[in-house]
Amino acid sequence: MNNGLVEKQSETGDQAPKRAPLLHASGISRRFTDKDATIEVLNDLSVEIGYGETMAVVGESGVGKSTLLHILGTLDPPDSGSVMYKGTNVFEMSGSRIAAFRNAAIGFVFQFHYLLAGFTSLENVMMPGLIAGMKKSGVREDAEAILVRVGLKDRMGHRVSDLSGGEQQRVALARALVRGPDILLADEPTGNLDQRNSAQIHEFLVELNREMGMAMVTVTHNMKLADMMQRRMHIADGRLKQLE
Ligand SMILES: Nc1ncnc2c1ncn2[C@@H]1O[C@H](COP(=O)(O)OP(=O)(O)O)[C@@H](O)[C@H]1O
Ligand SMILES: [Mg+2]
Repeated sequence: MNNGLVEKQSETGDQAPKRAPLLHASGISRRFTDKDATIEVLNDLSVEIGYGETMAVVGESGVGKSTLLHILGTLDPPDSGSVMYKGTNVFEMSGSRIAAFRNAAIGFVFQFHYLLAGFTSLENVMMPGLIAGMKKSGVREDAEAILVRVGLKDRMGHRVSDLSGGEQQRVALARALVRGPDILLADEPTGNLDQRNSAQIHEFLVELNREMGMAMVTVTHNMKLADMMQRRMHIADGRLKQLE
């Protein structure tokens, strides 16, 4: 997909030019200051994620998993360090370019769906394309196709508020993937669902990664989901470490 980013090739040398990884975050630090105390949540964290690669981040509450996803998702800049997508430092882009880049290249799923409850499934899934100024007929076609793919053919015209929790999360997944992002960032995507609905979302995540080829970072407490990812990491001392 063309996200408006130029892929940077290595400048010189006799070897074949090396393609930059999809995502390379390096030296990421993030601290928060309350009234009197400062906590170092992320401390010189680095991670590289390849095209189509899948990774789980597990770990206790409060260690910085969501903070990391927000930074990787360009929603929140780190105090220091860089986040490079395809060789481009995203936090050096202007605010409006970051937003356009994010809309095209990154899909998000959270524990709570954040859909527009009064709108239909179809309208919700059309939203990213419409915001990007794409032609309505194409946007509608893409939205319908992905909703069919996640088993919601008969729920497209239903208001989100009338759907079950599992259905709502499938709409959220469809909305995250409708523009064919390079990466899906999921923050406890099934933290609010029962076992059966969780298992269904897990299957969709794995199948859609295979079909669409997007990379995936999922924060989860669910070891079944973690085991489906190629890499399993946790955050310790502010850095990402391989889970033993
Ligand atoms: N905007 C913020 N302001 C102050 N403290 C924050 C903020 N965001 C996160 N924190 C703190 O940073 C730590 C990590 O939070 P978070 O990334 O949400 O953890 P996790 O997702 O692993 O549960 C927690 O101690 C949390 O209270
Ligand atoms: Mg969290």
